[in-house]
Amino acid sequence: MSPPPHYLIFSGCLFLLLLQQLFPVFQADDVGTAARYGPPYIPTVCFGNDEGQFPTSNLFASAGEGIWDNGAACGRQYLVRCISAAVQRTCVPGETIQIRIVDRALTSVSRPISKDAATIVLSTTAFGTIANLSATFINIEFQQV
Ligand SMILES: *[C@@H]1O[C@H](CO)[C@@H](O)[C@H](O)[C@H]1NC(C)=O
Repeated sequence: MSPPPHYLIFSGCLFLLLLQQLFPVFQADDVGTAARYGPPYIPTVCFGNDEGQFPTSNLFASAGEGIWDNGAACGRQYLVRCISAAVQRTCVPGETIQIRIVDRALTSVSRPISKDAATIVLSTTAFGTIANLSATFINIEFQQV
């Protein structure tokens, strides 16, 4: 086979350029799962027992092993959005929360209300802002900020 003529290569490049204009490449969020936990909230492994570390909004969470990062996760902030759940209409449409990591889900004093290990375990306030509190487990999109 002979190599393709130059005009084919040229128009191929133009086509790829056009594709990129039509469908710009954007950074996709990470996808994971969220459970929830209730009081007592004691941030032992991150901040000792300093409850001053909780945001006044009560939008906080404990980190699952996937994002725990050997403790570096303490204090990190994430944007979290509910994308689906086992029961339809569990997600509150259009709600995104910004949460602060204050604990490790594996060892938190108050245990996650779900038998499945989640990427992130949200405070009751945080979970209830993006989903119906009758759910214990949701699929989320999240992004560190
Ligand atoms: C939350 O879910 C429960 C059980 O599925 C349902 O009865 C209730 O209406 C839901 N609440 C809202 C605000 O959608």
